Amino acid sequence: MATDSERAADAASAADAIDAAQTVTVTGPAALTGTLSVPGDKSISHRVLLLAAIAPGTTYASGLSLGDDVQRTRRAIEQFGAEIEDFDPGPGLGRKPRAGMALAVTGGVLTEPTEPIDLGNSGTAMRLLAGVGAGQDAFSVLTGDQSLVTRPMDRVVEPLRAMGAKIDGRSGGRFAPLAIRGGGLTGIDYTPAVVSAQVKSAVLLAGLFAKGSTTVRESVPTRRHTEELLADFGHDVLVDGSSVTVRPGQLSAAKVVVPGDPSQAAFWAVAGLICPDSEVTVEGVYLGYGRAGFLDVLRRMGANLEVSQPEGILRASTSALRGIDIGPQDIPSMIDEVPAIAVAAAFAEGTTVISGAAELRVKESDRIASTVAMLNAFGIGATETADGMVIPGGQPRGDAVVDASGDHRLAMAACVCGLAVTGSTRITTWDSVATSYPGFAAHVAELSGGVATLAAAD
Ligand code: S3P
Repeated sequence: MATDSERAADAASAADAIDAAQTVTVTGPAALTGTLSVPGDKSISHRVLLLAAIAPGTTYASGLSLGDDVQRTRRAIEQFGAEIEDFDPGPGLGRKPRAGMALAVTGGVLTEPTEPIDLGNSGTAMRLLAGVGAGQDAFSVLTGDQSLVTRPMDRVVEPLRAMGAKIDGRSGGRFAPLAIRGGGLTGIDYTPAVVSAQVKSAVLLAGLFAKGSTTVRESVPTRRHTEELLADFGHDVLVDGSSVTVRPGQLSAAKVVVPGDPSQAAFWAVAGLICPDSEVTVEGVYLGYGRAGFLDVLRRMGANLEVSQPEGILRASTSALRGIDIGPQDIPSMIDEVPAIAVAAAFAEGTTVISGAAELRVKESDRIASTVAMLNAFGIGATETADGMVIPGGQPRGDAVVDASGDHRLAMAACVCGLAVTGSTRITTWDSVATSYPGFAAHVAELSGGVATLAAAD
């Protein structure tokens, strides 16, 4: 007879195989109960690695996201000369140690990379690294996968050029590959045309290496991870309302435990709300500035949601939801959660209108088009607008076939919808989930009590 640890190892390898599948089927409805910890926050993980590479000394960072996006940043800083070793962080946050990378990063001396840096699917990695690269007296080339090389990079190229970096790229620097010759920067006072934490962060990171001060002013404030982490790394960053200023100066190595990713927790929150007889708890989630907007939106929809701070515990149970209007002021603090929220809206009574979200058109997929197509595969009758979507609520039907468009968040949103409807949902380009959430399939199995709701269909 198999022992408990053999059974656990079998279940884990079955879940890994599902994570790697091109196509999966989800069988619903599933009642979800239990408590879990989501992977370390992706936005924080990228920034911790970059700042660790800049700071002289050894930074100890645990709970880092294991997703491919963050692995790309890890390799990128190694290409820039950081030295990285694994270390044993001991027990993590919450009931169970959080799965994640624990890395000792020795930084402070960035060197010229000898090869182009491949950032895979990660827009955050490319834009933030462009800021770091612009600050170095070095030549670097940044590239990525088929999706990343079609995403706009002029939003970071323009301010970095204004600071003095020489940057070329496809279509005059609008798209990657980007070739960066950095160094000799001067600080700027910059108001980005798009509301974007990535743009703000790229300029601030370059500002660490510029002469004089660098200020970024935002029309709608975005997530503050760069500012918060700069302070953790001993840098005197000045936040004044919606403007941030940095000056050149050394960072000090830090010890950082990366909290859970709210964008991943949002999938479980929505799953707990729309699946029958469900109660899902997620522990250790970052719910700081600019990231918790989805909770407010779900509450406005009538969600039965408990939140405990500062522990970052979310508990969601089956709820009757109603449609609401979600507007431009809501979007920056829930930009990545729109596909999950759209699924919640599909189960609500009444119509949900999302506007002010044109940025979704330039994410890992055109997320307005791909989210509407996903909802319509479930028979919802959603429609696109230029900067959002209109979602008539109701009862999504089963047996949908969804193309996730190679977009991890679409694949997970479709899975959550599939868990709540009766029938079997087929999702293609599923393997994109690995960019941000290796272990997602194991969490589906855990919450559904080991019932085989998610299976590989390759
Ligand atoms: C991120 C900011 C957001 C978000 C992305 C991560 C970050 O992008 O969509 O997934 O880490 O700064 P924008 O800043 O382009 O809106």
